Amino acid sequence: MIQVAVLGYGTVGSGVVEVIEKNKEMVNKKAGEELNVKYILDLRDFPGDPYEDKVVHDFTRILEDDEVKIVCETMGGVGAAYRFTQQALSAGKSVCTSNKELVAAHGPELLALAKANTCNYLFEASVGGGIPIIRPLNYSLTAERIEEIAGILNGTTNYILSKMEKEGADFDSVLKEAQEKGYAERNPEADVEGYDACRKIAILSSLMTGKNVDYQKIYTEGITRITAEDFSYAKAMGRSIKLLAVSREAGERTLAMVAPCMISREHPLYMVNGVFNAVFVKGNMLGDSMYYGRGAGKLPTASAVVSDVIDCARHQGKVIMCFWDEEDAPLQGIDDTESRFFFRVRKDGEEKAKELFAGAECISLPEMPEECGVVTGKIKEKDFAARYEQLGNARVGTRIRVD
Ligand code: HSE
Repeated sequence: MIQVAVLGYGTVGSGVVEVIEKNKEMVNKKAGEELNVKYILDLRDFPGDPYEDKVVHDFTRILEDDEVKIVCETMGGVGAAYRFTQQALSAGKSVCTSNKELVAAHGPELLALAKANTCNYLFEASVGGGIPIIRPLNYSLTAERIEEIAGILNGTTNYILSKMEKEGADFDSVLKEAQEKGYAERNPEADVEGYDACRKIAILSSLMTGKNVDYQKIYTEGITRITAEDFSYAKAMGRSIKLLAVSREAGERTLAMVAPCMISREHPLYMVNGVFNAVFVKGNMLGDSMYYGRGAGKLPTASAVVSDVIDCARHQGKVIMCFWDEEDAPLQGIDDTESRFFFRVRKDGEEKAKELFAGAECISLPEMPEECGVVTGKIKEKDFAARYEQLGNARVGTRIRVD
């Protein structure tokens, strides 16, 4: 029997216990040995919970119990979760986590620590919730040079954008409704400002390059400035607006960024709506591939954590290889990146916009006679910014990249 400890009995932690219990027979068969949750660490007590007798408040109980071989870290954050992970790995206990903040901030260090102690640090649930994406990158696409990863990696923002598109509603009202229904956090900043997607693409970019992509160096824009009017233009152009997290080869460097983007109906991520996530991966031999599913939620995320627990059970005394070195991956700065842009301009600025952006396409909508939309050709980000600035007060709303 393999004893397991779960750190944090919140949404994902309680899901982990539920998955191990509900799918017991299958899980044990696939693990090759029976798994048993021996401890649940939480600050709180859970009177009446079927597992209340397993709840402990002191991590040393888990650390000093040699029977515990696998720890599920479902606490989140980079404080206690970081310390407990370091201590567990140093004691030779494998750690499986859904904590993208910690993986993005300390992934290579924790992987090295696991390797030095002949155990494993696995993080399938940290990106895309229940969608298998870490394992495909680590195990399945090993013959590939990955040229590009593009993902819808945040369910909250995809839900908001999909609803804005469908209902013609504005950002604030959809966010408020999503919060009331519990789809969006009360403090939605990490989601709507793109920080959550940034950490997730940092993890995927690191696995793509084999080096460390520092999430703090990734250009990140959220969705707070996207309006119902932007969606009207997108619709007229046969496009949708999605928060894309992208990582792609740029010569010897890697371009990683998170930003809203107008994508066409032909784009593989066009049909990904609501809370769903998807990751598009382009390999130099395989070509295009897609991974789609529920990127958040109790049981989908817990299922991914338990898949890692099973992997640890199957690989006791062995280190599962993961190519993510501590050396920083060289990143391409945003300024020299070429993009196409959509922006809105007042009618009296249309001529100037055409002068500044030669060859740009203009779109007029009958319901907005005072303005028009402009789509540029490919232009360096820094050049776009300088010319866009020259439009001064003629600009309306924000600018959005176009794929
Ligand atoms: N807040 C995240 C989302 C949860 O909305 O996708 C999963 O990481």
